[in-house]
Amino acid sequence: MSIAEKALELVVDGTVIGLGTGQAASEFVRRLGQHVREGLDVRGIATSRATEALAREVGVPLLGLGDVEEIDATFDGADAVDPRLDLIKGLGGALLREKIVAASSRTLIVLVGQEKLTDRLGRGYCRQLPVEVVPFGLPLVQRKLARLGLQAELRAQEGQPIPTDNGNYTIDVDLSDLDEDPGTLNGRIRAIPGVVETGFFLGMASRVLIGKDDGSVEVRHRP
Ligand code: A5P
Repeated sequence: MSIAEKALELVVDGTVIGLGTGQAASEFVRRLGQHVREGLDVRGIATSRATEALAREVGVPLLGLGDVEEIDATFDGADAVDPRLDLIKGLGGALLREKIVAASSRTLIVLVGQEKLTDRLGRGYCRQLPVEVVPFGLPLVQRKLARLGLQAELRAQEGQPIPTDNGNYTIDVDLSDLDEDPGTLNGRIRAIPGVVETGFFLGMASRVLIGKDDGSVEVRHRP
């Protein structure tokens, strides 16, 4: 069974579902579309323009964030998952909407392959922390990060910064030499004017579905 199939077992008829961004989330959206075509009654709220387009293509009806009091459950991927189910997200560039949708949800269910598991955020598969920054504030954010002793790279293509869906930029902060607690580091980065949000999703995921190399799916709950 795939992680997307396992995730579908957790979808309740008649609910509002947050739709994540990235490969794992897209696979989930495709299968959700199949179930909708077979009669499942759900509405989706997309975390990116790409996911919105995919949901339309596969027939998942969409709502805006203002249409609901609360999202019942959000299904999204992640770039790193630690033993407390704290996450790094945003390699795919959608962290801000992903965090807004997750924070609007009763429960956040994460779909990952086992390579995303790490003992400590910043070690292993994903060693960077994506940070979304307002373009006007970029020079200040870069200076302040350097003063915090952090190496950071602006995400760019052919010399041009890549805009997010919100018209902002993304900076990738190198975490590989860092020993600081993610909560403390998150606070220090978010305190810089111009920083909109970071890819640390701390205390947000309630369940993680892990696709194992042997084809099985392990389910972990927040301790
Ligand atoms: C998008 O901004 C990210 O947070 C993705 O959810 C995350 O990068 C996982 O994506 P994949 O499932 O493609 O690895």
